[in-house]
Amino acid sequence: VQEWIDLRSDTVTRPSQGMRKAMAGAEVGDDVYSEDPTVNALQERAAEIFGREAALFMPTGSMGNAVCLTVLSSPGSEVICDRLSHIYNYELAAMSALAGVMPRVLDGPAGVPTAAQVEKYIQPSIYYLSPTACISLENTANIAGGRVCTREKIERVLTVARKHGVPVHMDGARIFNAAGALETDVASLTEGIDCLMFCLSKGLGAPVGSLVVGSKNFIGEARRVRKLYGGGMRQVGILAAAGLYALENNVERLAEDHQNARLLVESLAGLPGLDVDPETVESNIIIFKVDSPAPDAEELSRRLEDLSLVADPLGPDQIRLVTHLDVSKNDINRAIEIFAKALGCPK
Ligand SMILES: Cc1ncc(COP(=O)(O)O)c(C=O)c1O
Repeated sequence: VQEWIDLRSDTVTRPSQGMRKAMAGAEVGDDVYSEDPTVNALQERAAEIFGREAALFMPTGSMGNAVCLTVLSSPGSEVICDRLSHIYNYELAAMSALAGVMPRVLDGPAGVPTAAQVEKYIQPSIYYLSPTACISLENTANIAGGRVCTREKIERVLTVARKHGVPVHMDGARIFNAAGALETDVASLTEGIDCLMFCLSKGLGAPVGSLVVGSKNFIGEARRVRKLYGGGMRQVGILAAAGLYALENNVERLAEDHQNARLLVESLAGLPGLDVDPETVESNIIIFKVDSPAPDAEELSRRLEDLSLVADPLGPDQIRLVTHLDVSKNDINRAIEIFAKALGCPK
């Protein structure tokens, strides 16, 4: 029986034996009382890795983003974000529903607004305008195709933000992919950003969990809002242990996922009807348009599935593929053959 190749997302990874062992052996306590030693160790480690004062464990990235945006805003204010951003498209308008803020949506290149765009849309302080609560940047920018936002670009946005006294949040669900692609570390890449959320449950391979990092004051407030949103957890050291294991064992290997994405995209670029530019693939995500003579995205996905490959159709004419730690180089070579077959290419 052929194994399935699941390229829908890096969230589909399953915990390895080593990770499960770490989880099973974790010391636990009640985290609402801050008494879970494994959660405390994970938070301290995350703060250390990011060069921040403190960190807070979150059940999901969405809750991490919602908590950060709530702490930074008050109802009736605005969050500047990109049109492709996860907070704008895939979090059920949580910023509006929970924090009462309005997204001020910009079309940045590669999924991140530029400093000039941001500066144009920071609201002047006039009583009838909704004040700008914060700027949110996503790195890597998922739906832009896993594009990487460089330190230079971040710094330019930070300079504008500081000039206007506006804080900056980063949705760093895949910040370790970004840092790896730029051959830097997450602390240097994100220095000066007021609060940042990153996920353990994506390329890092943990079953659950995200963290928010920031100043002591910020994290104190984030703890209160996490509880408000129902995210106060008890003996979650078993999950934090997976996170500690992931940070220890699965960061360096993200480079393999990037190499696999490159191998895949370079072959896909030669296939009929796939409009894909290898130049734009910078991490573990490939997004491409399908056009004649290829069938539409849904039909192509169905054909791929018949051949044991699962992809993520993003709409009628777009497909997303994501490489991750449960996909080997052999799987990628098989995936290339499956695509060729699904498109009716001769061997
Ligand atoms: C860029 C980005 N931010 C945030 C999230 C939310 O993470 P979660 O699924 O843990 O809520 C995701 C999840 O796919 C994401 O891709």
